[in-house]
Amino acid sequence: MNAPLRLGIAGLGTVGAEVIRLVRQRRGQLAQTTGRTFQITAVSAADRTKDRGVDIDGYSWYDDAVSLARDGDIDVFVELIGGEDGVARASLEAALAAGRPVVTANKALLAVHGASLARAAEERGVALNYEGAVGGGIPVIKALREGLVANRISRISGILNGTCNFILSAMDNDQREFAESLREAQDLGYAEADPAFDVGGFDTAHKLAILTSLAFGTEIAVDDIYVEGIENVSLQDIRAAGQLGYRIKLLGVAQDTGHGIEQRVHPALVAKSSPMAEVAGVFNAVSLAGDFAGDLMIEGLGAGAGPTASAVVSDIADIALGNMRPVFGRPAAGLAKYRRARMRAHEGGYYIGLQVFDRPGSVAGITQCMADQAISLESIIQRGGAARRAAESVMPVALVTYETKEQAIRSALEAIERAGHLAEPAHMIRIEAA
Ligand code: HSE
Repeated sequence: MNAPLRLGIAGLGTVGAEVIRLVRQRRGQLAQTTGRTFQITAVSAADRTKDRGVDIDGYSWYDDAVSLARDGDIDVFVELIGGEDGVARASLEAALAAGRPVVTANKALLAVHGASLARAAEERGVALNYEGAVGGGIPVIKALREGLVANRISRISGILNGTCNFILSAMDNDQREFAESLREAQDLGYAEADPAFDVGGFDTAHKLAILTSLAFGTEIAVDDIYVEGIENVSLQDIRAAGQLGYRIKLLGVAQDTGHGIEQRVHPALVAKSSPMAEVAGVFNAVSLAGDFAGDLMIEGLGAGAGPTASAVVSDIADIALGNMRPVFGRPAAGLAKYRRARMRAHEGGYYIGLQVFDRPGSVAGITQCMADQAISLESIIQRGGAARRAAESVMPVALVTYETKEQAIRSALEAIERAGHLAEPAHMIRIEAA
């Protein structure tokens, strides 16, 4: 048996504590599969005395994660602190500078500083592994960095945030509005205390930025992602989508359009018959189109202590085995510049949810605004039983268009609003062949 692999773990939240439990519980199995015994030697966190349900007395304690990364008696630095800057970044950079391989689950740090971190890891010839950063327990980084390495990927799409998927599923299953479903997610401990990061789509954007770089061999470009959250999805949208044969999901999509790569995060209607529509609750899924592998989809638990610890330990196992891949699938100098495809040039079908003043000619006026932009309608649902708002009756109308350009839809909606037909702003949701 080779020398033990000494691990330093920085950050002892739910994932850090679970990594300790998993390494202890699977000590024999991990030694058999990698030929090395995993030995946690040092840990670091904000509070030494906090009860985490795991005994850390046998490990060297560091108040400062940077000191652990730089000076600890360790072979691998495991960063589970989180956050795109601060001590997470400083300690990870210190470990790389000291020539130590790093394992992290920090998507924000990679999405924002991935390019410089990849260069730093390469200069020192050490691994930077991050399977836990995207999709929790789903081995999607390995799928892209290893299994699909011979393919050209033309499209990647995914449900990458468990909190949003839980909320949208609960709205659909329990016929509840967004705010009530969000409260339930918070009560169950899924959503962050400040849920804006999840529901605003930013967590999905960080994960998508990483997947895009891996899938298309481009420099990471998180600031170029078009992001819309799920805050404005209403129960009426969910119901109308259901009647039209769709479910609403928050998707991250990266697609080679031939005139640049579209990276977008937004709620989307997906056909009930598609596998993505079946991904419910806190589950995540990633769908990939490779030229030789064809279409594939991986689904699993995208968050939580167990799935993330499973991913983190698999990354440590690769280091134990001496398996090393370039951080974003190819050497940093070989990553192409990201060329953005503008959203206004996006082409697809659209769902439009409207609250229309119940006046003679209002629906005719709306469809005329669509026709003026050469937009053809596939379906229209107009329900009776208009609700009264102030002095007027308002009725819900849902439209689905055939494929058109986003610029045309935006122009049509501006014209509809200018004409005074709407009691509130339109809900425009893209239709996705997920
Ligand atoms: N807040 C994230 C989610 C956690 O809900 O999926 C995992 O990144």
